[in-house]
Amino acid sequence: MIFSDFGTKLNTHSGILQLMDDLGKPLPKGVPSYQLGGGNPARIPQVEKVYREEMEKLLSSKDGFENAVARYDAPVGRISFIEVLTEYLSKTYGWKITEKNIAVSNGSQSAFFYLFNLFSGTTTQNGVKTKKTILFPLVPEYVGYADQGVEADTFVSVPARCEYYDDNTFKYFIDFPAVEAYLAEHPEVGAMCVSRPTNPSGNVLTDVEIKKLSALAEKYRIPLMVDNAYGLPFPNIVFTDDAKPYWDKNVILSMSLSKIGLPALRTGIIIADEKIITAMSNINAIAALASGSLGQILAEPLVKTGRLVSMGEEFVRPFYEHKSRQMQDWIHEEFAGLPYGIHKSEGAIFLWLLLNDLKIPTLELYSKLKERGVITVPGEYFFFGLPKHTTHPHYNKCLRLNYSRNEDEVHQAVKIIADVYRQNMR
Ligand SMILES: Cc1ncc(COP(=O)(O)O)c(C=O)c1O
Repeated sequence: MIFSDFGTKLNTHSGILQLMDDLGKPLPKGVPSYQLGGGNPARIPQVEKVYREEMEKLLSSKDGFENAVARYDAPVGRISFIEVLTEYLSKTYGWKITEKNIAVSNGSQSAFFYLFNLFSGTTTQNGVKTKKTILFPLVPEYVGYADQGVEADTFVSVPARCEYYDDNTFKYFIDFPAVEAYLAEHPEVGAMCVSRPTNPSGNVLTDVEIKKLSALAEKYRIPLMVDNAYGLPFPNIVFTDDAKPYWDKNVILSMSLSKIGLPALRTGIIIADEKIITAMSNINAIAALASGSLGQILAEPLVKTGRLVSMGEEFVRPFYEHKSRQMQDWIHEEFAGLPYGIHKSEGAIFLWLLLNDLKIPTLELYSKLKERGVITVPGEYFFFGLPKHTTHPHYNKCLRLNYSRNEDEVHQAVKIIADVYRQNMR
């Protein structure tokens, strides 16, 4: 059997495929498991109750259920959901958007697949072909992007600048001079992309940083993709107060219903220039006909009444903020006396742990932890797109830890990680 270049590229045994494969395999017999690996959000009872009530309303209304399941929505999304979102976002934030600025996708992951390939790869302008790239201005960045380009070598990145603090914490910053220099020297950059909050580090770019990136996007006439999967107004897993929702005509803002409790309903939302929305809709028609309706149907009344947003404020943010604080406390306790750092936890559902004196790569540490039942994600996968011979000092020294599991599981896992680190220090 011969696969096309497209097929081969997407089947290549990339780091993340290998990891996902590994995750699916059973742990050694009798070893309890501590699942700090994937990106599953927590189950929050107050949030689940709201969705259950919406579902019950749907089931008991005449025709409501049949209407929900028995027809395709438009490729751009469910029109009534888009109308409600448009009204909410334009009224609340004053964004100059209409229904033509919003598209719905089968999860934001698939929206990024469309977007990355709209703006990168071979591009013909006035009969001249260039190979466009996507620039990630702050790496480490979400591993789920790394293999989404259909053509090879179309993702490029700038390593994060880092500041270290006395309390065993550190924080990444965009190296703006390096990003500006890159853009000036590389006219082939077709778009920039950041996640805000950032998966894996929990960094949250400030309003000032986002506006600066948008100004660069305007200057170089390229879009800036802002992945708001953990951001505001929902799910609101943001613990800082200088990160307001931001959109302007240079920005492609991506949102998702996943981290507010509906990952299985695969609902992503893209807010962008009309031309981009039309392109997304056209690609969706070809690739999927339409996006799933159920997430949109459950969320529509909740957006309309403001309940989705208030649920984020009342339940989701406090829940994760508490979990994050708790895990940090346990790390500080169990790692006392060891060289380590935690990235400032400003949002998202992960802690990013730096093990300065680790003598093996985190890929190897990952296997040793797995033998003890602890599943994490090794840091190497998040450093994609760096120029050859360039690396980041944290490249093989960090672990991404999902802190949303139950207390006992997270606490035990932290103890084991400290123990295995002690055995593998320089
Ligand atoms: C930063 C980021 N973006 C996008 C996604 C994709 O989310 P979904 O496709 O469920 O909307 C995730 C999932 O973990 C994520 O962490």
